[in-house]
Amino acid sequence: MTSRRAFLSAAAVAAAAAALRPLPVFAASPVPRESALATRAIPSSGERIPIIGMGTSGSFEVDAAGREPLEEVLRRFVAGGASVIDTSPNYSNAEDVLGDLLAELGLRDRIFLATKLAADDRPAGEAQFAQSLKRLRTDKVELLAVHNLRDWRNQLTLARDLKEQGKTRYIGLTHYQDSAHHELARIMAAEKPDFIQINYSVGAPNAERALLPLARDLGVAVMINRAFDDGRLFSRVADRPLPGWAAEAGVTSWAQMFLKFTTGHPAVTVVIPATGKPDRQSDNLKAGLGRDLTEAERAELVTMFA
Ligand SMILES: NC(=O)c1ccc[n+]([C@@H]2O[C@H](COP(=O)([O-])OP(=O)(O)OC[C@H]3O[C@@H](n4cnc5c(N)ncnc54)[C@H](OP(=O)(O)O)[C@@H]3O)[C@@H](O)[C@H]2O)c1
Repeated sequence: MTSRRAFLSAAAVAAAAAALRPLPVFAASPVPRESALATRAIPSSGERIPIIGMGTSGSFEVDAAGREPLEEVLRRFVAGGASVIDTSPNYSNAEDVLGDLLAELGLRDRIFLATKLAADDRPAGEAQFAQSLKRLRTDKVELLAVHNLRDWRNQLTLARDLKEQGKTRYIGLTHYQDSAHHELARIMAAEKPDFIQINYSVGAPNAERALLPLARDLGVAVMINRAFDDGRLFSRVADRPLPGWAAEAGVTSWAQMFLKFTTGHPAVTVVIPATGKPDRQSDNLKAGLGRDLTEAERAELVTMFA
């Protein structure tokens, strides 16, 4: 009769084999080795992460029926070689939806999971983080950032303490508006977090004046939100053709162009576009392939959207 221990180790081997087996989407749409997503190093550790990640604001704030396309959004994301997912306890039920889907798809180990502290004092931050772990169905995250600089002194101290306890590997500060860049720069210089998360796009390029060069000098990783200006950039391009040099740069859509604009800046580590649609996810991931845009191409885009 098979002993319990032998059975358990056979089960462990089977589970490990299942975890290593490629996801079905690999078979359906293989990603050739030579076209793997580009990666960049997190300066504080040297760990490399793929330059295209994803956000969950709006896109993961869905009811039960809205979860189905998100499974494919996540499958394609991981199959495409991406890993960085940003969420927050104040995106209504996004953490619950993300946690459930990662557990159901068995993907948690392949994700660089970033969530936030959005609270007004330390006890509230502690309770919120404990809840985030439950909702995300995990016992730690990869990045914990202070949302919009809210109560930042207490929350950054808490994040540091949680890092000491092994509950997060990196800490950060976020904002999404140009008006916060000056304060963010001041706090970043004083506190030197592992990451900042900021807005940066062809239509809102102000971060490159001071914040991005400063992050580079300080060795702070930069995560970009609002690369599509929350989707508004698409209505600005409508039927407008891509610039003549797009094909040579490996760009076949405006989404890829907007994302490549952000990752073309050398201080940028990862950009986190949000979509709930599988085909748009595939489109966004293509921005992590091929060459970077040149300075001249990036400048032309800024002029075009000024
Ligand atoms: N303070 C903060 O910490 C902060 C603030 C803002 C954002 N963030 C993070 O950054 C993430 C990204 O920002 P965001 O969600 O505000 O805006 P975004 O990524 O600039 O834009 C999202 C919009 O673009 C559309 N979209 C995505 N891919 C597309 C494609 N390939 N073609 C056409 N449309 C496309 C989406 O629509 P569909 O879903 O319909 O595809 C959605 O309406 C957020 O989800 C969040 O995780 C953090």
